[in-house]
Amino acid sequence: MARIELKDWPIPLENGGETVLETMIAHGVPFPYSCASGDCGACKGRVLCGEVAHDSAPAGILSATERADGYVLACRCTPKSDLRIEALDELVALPAARRQRGWVVSRQHRQGDVVVLRVKPAKPVHYLAGQFFYLKFDNLPQRAYSVASLPGADELEFHVRLVEGGKTSRYVSRDNLVGSEVTVDGPHGHGYWRQNHDGPIVAIGGGTGLAPVLSIIGAALAANAHRHVHLYYAARVEADVYWEAELAALARQYPNLRVDCALSRAEPSEQGPLPRRYQRVTASLEQDWPSLAGAKLYIAGPPKMVEAVAVTARELGLAARDLHTDPFSDAADHKLDGACTSWLRRFVGRWRRPPFELPGLATQKG
Ligand SMILES: Cc1cc2nc3c(=O)[nH]c(=O)nc-3n(C[C@H](O)[C@H](O)[C@H](O)COP(=O)(O)OP(=O)(O)OC[C@H]3O[C@@H](n4cnc5c(N)ncnc54)[C@H](O)[C@@H]3O)c2cc1C
Ligand code: FES
Repeated sequence: MARIELKDWPIPLENGGETVLETMIAHGVPFPYSCASGDCGACKGRVLCGEVAHDSAPAGILSATERADGYVLACRCTPKSDLRIEALDELVALPAARRQRGWVVSRQHRQGDVVVLRVKPAKPVHYLAGQFFYLKFDNLPQRAYSVASLPGADELEFHVRLVEGGKTSRYVSRDNLVGSEVTVDGPHGHGYWRQNHDGPIVAIGGGTGLAPVLSIIGAALAANAHRHVHLYYAARVEADVYWEAELAALARQYPNLRVDCALSRAEPSEQGPLPRRYQRVTASLEQDWPSLAGAKLYIAGPPKMVEAVAVTARELGLAARDLHTDPFSDAADHKLDGACTSWLRRFVGRWRRPPFELPGLATQKG
């Protein structure tokens, strides 16, 4: 049994051999995390005293230099001794997740095999721009989908890309989906819009990773119509660009919003209303941003793209605490299927609210 002391948390926590993150969740500590599988970096912290055993992590998410400086991913490490640790991100009370019934109120097929779903939950749900929900249809396993709509909307909008052999994505492409019941569980995730930051926002949505990014930039521009926002809409080929007219309209509405389509595998050809960049999004970042210091970078979509951008962003001077990711990883989803469900139940079963008010605990509003 090891003892974990967390900076800014008043009582020590007991660890019985599980990961540091599992200990935090079991004790009701609002420690930041999203994927619980090493892909997002939300649970990054620094070991101030003591030793951990650390599983492998993508180099873009936890670099060798960071590891040498004592940084760890709480979801990938277990204590080898008593520990003192601090979280990189602040400890924030986020809107509580709840599971409830909902109904599909509209379904639209877009190009690029994308289905845009609108779901009305039985009761209004409070969430932050950039968070995600688990949707469970019929007797299928639940799957994570990020919300595209703005906080406060009655209906939740999701953009679902059809995956070959995919259970849920194939199900939502059915013609008779409208009216179907769906279990909605959320909100979840730490890739949300930081409203107390007023520097430039760089947002990258790869494929349907555009969904959470739309919510983030929409909320940020609604709060300050003149803030500087640069959105890179990343896709492979023209046929994947499923949300162009809406983005072009948004760019006309806000003078300091710039939107580029970054197409990694397309030949220069006919263009839509948005400017095209025929290269990887990392190359565009390097061209446009001599330094990312002081900016916030939000990125969502395929884990490999998220990792590549994280590496480039670090080289361009982005501070680790200013990177907020939402990788659409299979591992995070399948952790909730089958074998791994048992650890979750065990820790959710032990979860308890802290028995006191926390001094200085920040609360993020929706
Ligand atoms: C935080 C988060 C947010 C997300 N947001 C979105 C979003 O906004 N839009 C979106 O389109 N997607 C999103 N995703 C991805 C989404 O959750 C699903 O993974 C995706 O829709 C595929 O689900 P499926 O049930 O259709 O496919 P699955 O049936 O899960 O299959 C997907 C692929 O994985 C393979 N596979 C099946 N079982 C396993 C297994 N046990 N282990 C490994 N691989 C397996 C299948 O062969 C198939 O190729 C998000 C994922 C995460 C983690
Ligand atoms: S929660 Fe640990 S890396 Fe995502």
